[in-house]
Amino acid sequence: MPLNLSVSAPERCYWQILTGEETVWDPKTGSEEPLVLRSFLFLPGNLPQLKTVRNSLCVHSDPFADLDSCPTAHVDDLFPFFMRHAKQMFPMLACKDDLRKISDLRLPPNWYPEARSFRRKVVFHAGPTNSGKTYHAIQSYLAAKSGVYCGPLKLLAHEIFEKSNDAGVSCDLVTGEERVMADPDGKPAAHVACTVEMCSVTSPYDVAVIDEIQMIKDPARGWAWTRALLGLCAQEIHLCGEAAAIDIVTELMYTTGEEVEVRNYERLTPIIVLDRALESLDNLRPGDCIVCFSKNDIYSVSRQIEIRGLESAVIYGSLPPGTKLAQAKKFNDPDDPCKILVATDAIGMGLNLSIKRIIFNSLIKPSINEKGEKEMEPISTSQALQISGRAGRFSSKFKEGEVTTMYPEDLKLLKEILNKPVEPIGAAGLHPTADQIEMFAYHLPDTTLANLIDIFVDFSQVDGQYFVCNMDDFKFSADLIQHIPLSLRVRYVFCTAPINKKQPFVCSSLLQFARQFSRNEPLTFAWIRRYTRWPLQPPKNIKDLVELEAVHDVLDLYLWLSYRFVDMFPDASLVRDLQKELDGIIQKGVHNITTLIRMSEAQRMLNLDSSPAGKQGQLPGAAKPSSGEAVEAAMAESLASKSLASKLVRQGRLTPHMLKQLRKEWLKQQTEEERARAEDGSHSERTRRKKNNPKAH
Ligand SMILES: Nc1ncnc2c1ncn2[C@@H]1O[C@H](COP(=O)(O)OP(=O)(O)O)[C@@H](O)[C@H]1O
Ligand SMILES: [Mg+2]
Repeated sequence: MPLNLSVSAPERCYWQILTGEETVWDPKTGSEEPLVLRSFLFLPGNLPQLKTVRNSLCVHSDPFADLDSCPTAHVDDLFPFFMRHAKQMFPMLACKDDLRKISDLRLPPNWYPEARSFRRKVVFHAGPTNSGKTYHAIQSYLAAKSGVYCGPLKLLAHEIFEKSNDAGVSCDLVTGEERVMADPDGKPAAHVACTVEMCSVTSPYDVAVIDEIQMIKDPARGWAWTRALLGLCAQEIHLCGEAAAIDIVTELMYTTGEEVEVRNYERLTPIIVLDRALESLDNLRPGDCIVCFSKNDIYSVSRQIEIRGLESAVIYGSLPPGTKLAQAKKFNDPDDPCKILVATDAIGMGLNLSIKRIIFNSLIKPSINEKGEKEMEPISTSQALQISGRAGRFSSKFKEGEVTTMYPEDLKLLKEILNKPVEPIGAAGLHPTADQIEMFAYHLPDTTLANLIDIFVDFSQVDGQYFVCNMDDFKFSADLIQHIPLSLRVRYVFCTAPINKKQPFVCSSLLQFARQFSRNEPLTFAWIRRYTRWPLQPPKNIKDLVELEAVHDVLDLYLWLSYRFVDMFPDASLVRDLQKELDGIIQKGVHNITTLIRMSEAQRMLNLDSSPAGKQGQLPGAAKPSSGEAVEAAMAESLASKSLASKLVRQGRLTPHMLKQLRKEWLKQQTEEERARAEDGSHSERTRRKKNNPKAH
């Protein structure tokens, strides 16, 4: 068990006793020289030390209480009592050798005997984004008699599934939430496109493609790439990804006795970093994509663009796949007036986009560190390259890509980030299996699942090329449903369901599903309709949109569970239809997203909606549905408690209907004023620039 080096000497001593370590740091001399633990305890002068241990850990029970009344007692007499007490407090000590053995994660190649029974040919397609890596790997996949494509996203699995079937190579689709068989009778095809977590490590294939292999370093999902790399039973394995992963892959393949052939690729289209920031949205051109790292920035930039009389498409991570594709299509369509894209880094992978210029609105991306704290760090070189790489596309009209920032002060940082060499990846992710956790639970029956994971991670041993993936999401779900009576296996599966823990409705749905499950009540179509308050109305503002996105995620959760517990989640195909319908409703909403943003702004200004646009987490199950009446009712209710408007309503001088009318008029007026201001602003800015730089045009 690793020691926390910051603890005080007595605590260190205590831990070493508990964990049975043979040597101890001498707190008196500060010397690192090893002392034999028992002799350290038996030194007569160490009795006060033992008392301090007791006090610092607030252990006042037998046998330590006797220490006070019996100052002359020989510590040797206490040792058996001490150990008994320690084992009660820390039950894992009684079976620590077994636990160490179960959590031994060294030699992962040996976990896949089928793959180890022959030598696989491994080809690494290395290069930047848009260099044709996936294209070339897929050529081998299509030419093979059988194949598996493992992608990082559902959208990419879908893309290969469609490409393959279009090319006359019958291909199935397997993702966590979806199984589509190419054969109408459901006979499995020889080719399958899947998300990497879903690939089979027992089915034989001629060719396997593992896309975006650099994600082997991902703190949470890296294990899935490691598993695919070590476990796929394919004669040929094609890896596509950043050159930063070549070393780690070569090292891992050394342990399996397989050689790696590296094929390097250059970008198909050149890309240049501009010397000028965009500075103003007035300088936007067709084919521009503004990259933001928060939804609120997306909303405000789209609104600013609208004020300038331009149309924009919007893509961010929590939109359903159909909506993302519809927005991408709108942006790519040469006949559509929408020529600007506002997006998060969700565009880094998996969508075909005809982008000429990437403009970073900011270079700071909020992230959650290992301690679960929010950090505001500049994006990594790898992330910056991935996003910038989307500018200029081989098959689009933009043969040359450009990259810049919105603000001049960010440009230097962008250049620094892009010019930094990408660090080679040092380690690949691993995670415990359900079997291992089950064996832990057998030894520690009274321990919660989240604690089992902690103890597992503490006990686990890994080789230098590996790390244990962060299991915070798993532990979050485990804590959420801990009080619900479920078997360990079922509990484990519920906790592996991918959920967005920032979405309260999705979290409470996991809880609700688990509760129904434990009561043995199947979650039927009728139930899920009631639960989500179907039929849902098109969104009227951003809050509604966020709620609808959460409902879409809840339906995803249902579908995910339906493949693991068919009997308890029996209506997958009906729920899928419902989800498609919802995707359509969201698509329409996002099509008019600037109207939704305007409505939210207006409501906020009228003090009707105290939550910021984009604030997440109104539960349809707990709060109002998104129906028109409900919105009006909520407005009236909200009015009853706030501002001048509330006074007027209370005095009967204003009715909710009159207020609605006022809002409409006010909104119209506000838009007109903003447009006029924008025209004014762009005119004066152009004049100013002309004055400063007579050559500017
Ligand atoms: N040799 C080629 N012939 C035709 N299209 C290609 C070729 N190489 C790449 N492409 C197209 O260029 C785009 C980028 O290629 P892709 O393989 O996705 O790049 P990467 O995987 O390196 O990011 C894709 O639309 C792909 O179909
Ligand atoms: Mg690719």
